Amino acid sequence: MKGVILAGGLGTRLEPLTRITNKHLLPIYDRPMIYYPLQTLVDAGLTDIMLVTGGNHAGEFLRLLGNGGEFGLRHLNYTYQRGEGGIAEALHLTEHFADGEKIVVILGDNILERSIRPSIERFAAQSAGARLLLKEVEDPERFGVADLRDGKIVGIEEKPAQPKSSFVVTGIYMYDEQVFDIIKTLKPSGRGELEITDVNNAYIQRGQMAYDILEGWWTDAGLPETLYRATTLVREQALKRQGHTHPVSVST
Ligand code: G1P
Repeated sequence: MKGVILAGGLGTRLEPLTRITNKHLLPIYDRPMIYYPLQTLVDAGLTDIMLVTGGNHAGEFLRLLGNGGEFGLRHLNYTYQRGEGGIAEALHLTEHFADGEKIVVILGDNILERSIRPSIERFAAQSAGARLLLKEVEDPERFGVADLRDGKIVGIEEKPAQPKSSFVVTGIYMYDEQVFDIIKTLKPSGRGELEITDVNNAYIQRGQMAYDILEGWWTDAGLPETLYRATTLVREQALKRQGHTHPVSVST
C-alpha cells in the first residue's frame, strides 16, 4: 500500500498568513504543519509516500523534507499540481505512483491524535473498494457529511446547510485502483473543482464503501480558529508526553 499527502491549494481562508508561503508550511506548535500528516502515514507503517503540492512555494517542501530521512524514510516522492483544480484533481496526479496498488490519502492540514494503523489494516484485508474515517463533530456543515442508515453510508453531502448527521468525513481516504477511473468521470463542481466527495459517492453507489469512526481528537487547520486549535491540541499532547500535568509557564 502506498501513501499520498495532498498539500496544494492557495490557503485563502488563512490570508494573509498564506500570502508568502504555503499553508502546510505554517507552524503547528513546534513543527511545520506538513510534518503531522507525514508522521501519521509513517506511524501507520507506510514507507512509499508521495507529496502533491503546487503554487509558488513548492520548492520549500523539498528543502524542508528532503528524502524524508528525519522520518526514517529512504526516499520521498513529489509531484506538482498546476492550478487549483481541487482535491480529486491533485489525487489524479498520483496515478503513475500508485501503479495499481491501494493508496491511503491524507489531506495535509488534517492533524490527528491517534494512529490510523488499525483502519489501514482493515482496509488491507478488504477485497476491493474504499474506506473512510468518520468523526462526530459539533459543526458538520463545515465538512463532507455522511448520511448513515442502519450503520451504512448511503451518501455524502459536501458542506450542506442542513446536515443529515453529525458524522463528517475526515481528510483520510483509502482507495483501491478504481479511484483513478472514477476521477476521470468527474465534472467540476460549483466552485470549479473536482470534489473528493464525488469520488466517495461513486464508491457508495458501487456498494464498495466501508468506514470506521476515528478514535481520539482530530482537527483540520485551514482556518485561523482551527490552526489555533490544532496548535493547542498538539501542544497539550507534547506536554503530556513530557510528563507535565499543568500548563508550563515560559520565563525569559
Ligand atoms: C475537504 C473535503 C471535505 C472534508 C474535509 C476534511 O474540505 O472537501 O469533504 O470533510 O476536507 O478536512 P475542505 O477543507 O477542502 O473545505
